[in-house]
Amino acid sequence: MVPAGNPLLDNLRIEPTPGATTLVIFGASGDLTRRKLLPALHTLSRGQRLPARFAVVGIGRTELSDDDFRQQFRESLREHAEVTGDDDVVRSLEGRLSYICGDTGDPALYERLAERLKEIGGADGVLYYLAIPPGVYSTVVERLGAAGLAGTPGRGWRRVIVEKPFGTDLASARALNELLHRHFEEDQIFRIDHYLGKETVQNLLVLRFANGMFEPIWNRRYIDHVQITAAETVGVEGRAAYYEGAGALRDMVQNHLMQLLALVAMEPPVEFSAGTVRDRKMDALKAVQPVSLEGENADAVRAQYRAGWVERREVPGYRSEPGVGVESTTETYVALRLRLDNWRWAGVPFYLRTGKRLPKRTTEIAIQFHRPPLEIFRRVSPTPLMSNLLVINVQPDEGISMRFDAKIPGTRMQVAPVMMNFRYGTTFPGEVPEAYETLLLDAMLGDATLFARHDFVETSWALVTPVHEAWEEHGDTSIPGYEAGEWGPQEADSLIARDGRRWRTL
Ligand code: BG6
Repeated sequence: MVPAGNPLLDNLRIEPTPGATTLVIFGASGDLTRRKLLPALHTLSRGQRLPARFAVVGIGRTELSDDDFRQQFRESLREHAEVTGDDDVVRSLEGRLSYICGDTGDPALYERLAERLKEIGGADGVLYYLAIPPGVYSTVVERLGAAGLAGTPGRGWRRVIVEKPFGTDLASARALNELLHRHFEEDQIFRIDHYLGKETVQNLLVLRFANGMFEPIWNRRYIDHVQITAAETVGVEGRAAYYEGAGALRDMVQNHLMQLLALVAMEPPVEFSAGTVRDRKMDALKAVQPVSLEGENADAVRAQYRAGWVERREVPGYRSEPGVGVESTTETYVALRLRLDNWRWAGVPFYLRTGKRLPKRTTEIAIQFHRPPLEIFRRVSPTPLMSNLLVINVQPDEGISMRFDAKIPGTRMQVAPVMMNFRYGTTFPGEVPEAYETLLLDAMLGDATLFARHDFVETSWALVTPVHEAWEEHGDTSIPGYEAGEWGPQEADSLIARDGRRWRTL
C-alpha cells in the first residue's frame, strides 16, 4: 500500500528547525546519555534537524576531558546506534561537544557553566537535561536558580527537561513540581514520558482526530471495553537498585499507561496545541475513579515473576536477580480495571496490564466494540462470531489493525473474522524516529504537547498512590507469582473474567 498523494509526504518534510541552542546535560557520563541522548543527537544532526548554532555541554562527576567526552560519544554511537564510520555528521557534532567535571552540589560548577555558556556565546536558548537520579534534581534546580541560570534572559530562553521518575508518590511529585515552579515557569518545564514520543502513540491522536469515521463510534454506545497492554520480555535488567523501590505500578502504570489511557479517552481538542491537548487529557484523567481494592473484587492485581523460560532461554526469578532481596514483594506485573465516569465512557471498563518477563514484547491498545444487536448469521456460521476490534500496535510492529467478519467464499453462508492491517514499516518505508529524537527536538522548539504537565503527573499519582500504599500495608511475602514466560498470574485472569471478558491472546 502506498500512501495516497505522495506530495503530502514532501510537504511534511518542511519542518521547523529550532533556533540557536545549547544543550546542557547533567549526568553526561551516565547510561541515559550514552544509550539514548547522544545517538538521538546524531540522528537529528544527520537529518539536519539541529540548529546551525548548536552546542552540547556535558556535566558529570566522572573526570573526563572534552576529548574523553567526544570519545564517549563515538563509543555510544558504535554501541547504541550502529554508527561506526567517521563521517561529516559525526565530526561536526563531535566538535560541538564539551564537558565540565564537577559536583552538582558545588556552586563553583555553576559559575563554570555560566562562563562556558558565555564562551559558546550567542546561543539564544539553553536546554538543561536532568539525566541524573531524582535525588539530585532539587540540588541542580536550586543551584541553577541561585546562579541566575534558570530565568529567561532578554531574548533567549531557558528550559529544563526532567526525566522520570517524577516523584515516587503524590507528595513527592507535588514537592518536585513546587521546587521546579520556584525557579522555572511551567512553560519552561518539559517532563519526559518517552511513550509520548513513540510514533504510534502520536498516531493515536491522528487516527482519532484527523479521521471522521472513528470519532462518532468512539464511545460507550459502540465500545464494549478497552484493553491496554505493555508486555516486556526483559527482566529487571540490572536496575534492581531503582526497580526495588519502584515496581511495575510506579515504573509503568503511573506514567506510560496513564498517558495511553488519556489519549484514548480524551475529548477532541479544538486545536493541536500543547495547552488544549493537555487540557483534554486532563479532563479524561480526572474522570478515572479511585481504584477499588476491596478483597476478592479488587480492581488491582500485582504479581512477581518466578523462574521460567522466556524466548527459549531459562531465566531466574525476580528474587534471584542481583540486588533483589530474597523476600522482596516488589511487583513486576500489574493489572488494573479502571472506570471513567463521564458521558463518553460510563460503563466501559479500561483494563490495563503490564509486566516483565512475559512471553512477548508487545505494547498495544485494543478497542473492543459491542457485538451487533442482532446476530442473524449465528445459526449458519461454524465459528462463533467475533465482535469488531481495533488494535493500535504501539510496538514492536507499529501499525493499526481492524477485525471484522467476512463471508468465507463458497456456496454456503459461512462467516469468519478477518483482519485489515496497516503496517507503518510497509506503508512508510524509512526510519521511524526514536522517541528521544522527537522529544529532544520538540523541547528545543518549545513545543510541550508531548510532555507531561504538572497537573497530569499529580492526578496520575493521586490514582496510583493509594493502590501502592495498600500493597505496602500488606507487605508480607505473599505476593502472587507467575512463571517467567507466562501471561501473568491467575488473579489477573480472574479480574477480567469477573466481567465476563478475557485478556486478548497476543
Ligand atoms: C521505562 C521503564 O520507563 O520504560 C522500564 O523504567 C521499561 O522498566 C521501559 O522497561 C519500557 O520502555 P519501552 O520503550 O521499551 O517500552
